[in-house]
Amino acid sequence: MWTHIASAWSEGSQLDLYERNGLHMIRVDGWELMNGEYHASEDQLGRLAALLPNSPHPEILVGGLGLGYTLASILETLNTRIHQTQAWVTVAERSGAVLRWFGTHINPRLVATLSSGVRLIESDVADHFGEDRRWDVIVLDVDNGPRALSAPGNAVLYSARGLARCWDCLATSGHLLLWTGFEDREFIGRACAAGFSVTLQSIPLPNRTDQAHVVYVLSRERLSRDDCDQLGLCRAA
Ligand SMILES: C[S@@+](CC[C@H](N)C(=O)[O-])C[C@H]1O[C@@H](n2cnc3c(N)ncnc32)[C@H](O)[C@@H]1O
Repeated sequence: MWTHIASAWSEGSQLDLYERNGLHMIRVDGWELMNGEYHASEDQLGRLAALLPNSPHPEILVGGLGLGYTLASILETLNTRIHQTQAWVTVAERSGAVLRWFGTHINPRLVATLSSGVRLIESDVADHFGEDRRWDVIVLDVDNGPRALSAPGNAVLYSARGLARCWDCLATSGHLLLWTGFEDREFIGRACAAGFSVTLQSIPLPNRTDQAHVVYVLSRERLSRDDCDQLGLCRAA
């Protein structure tokens, strides 16, 4: 049984935080936004974000925070490669309540140990797409996929215009990573038209042979076959 912990209002929607056996769940207007019971794909999203950049000082942008599994996985993986202090990680989270709850209820231990290169900012992820930025990796996990939006304003992120903006603010060998609950061939078509080389990894859901979460990797430069094999990625197009 989930226990209700806190409520908040954000842009006309009601957010509720619940806890059960140390795990958390966030609902928006009664709909589940994120549940801590199963987070293999969010973890894998973070691992790929930390493993893909070649730079010794990678700059990674993450939108949004949610329950922070992707952030935790990025930091853990960076620590095995370089050290999180060598990287810059910016997390853009639109909801102030989600950011507050992360520090007070969800993962205060992680917040207390963040290095100075890790910033959690209340903002829309698109606000960080300035042309002067050259992100090594942009991670998008703000919706259930390019067609299942948590807010109508997010549609632009997956449009030809949004993809072109991401292209412009990525480093030459940068990557845009996208979490989605469903494969979307039209989105892949737009990503290819924008110039990206697209690979993907499917992460099966437990006890479901018919359903998987998907991480799309949109790369400005085509990944080598060895890189794909090592990272467990296959070509989408
Ligand atoms: C599904 S959760 C992210 C899950 C996260 N990967 C994890 O490991 O828990 C989506 C988050 O994105 C936030 N969000 C939605 N649209 C956003 C946007 N345009 N910019 C920044 N954050 C956004 C939501 O408030 C929510 O906290």
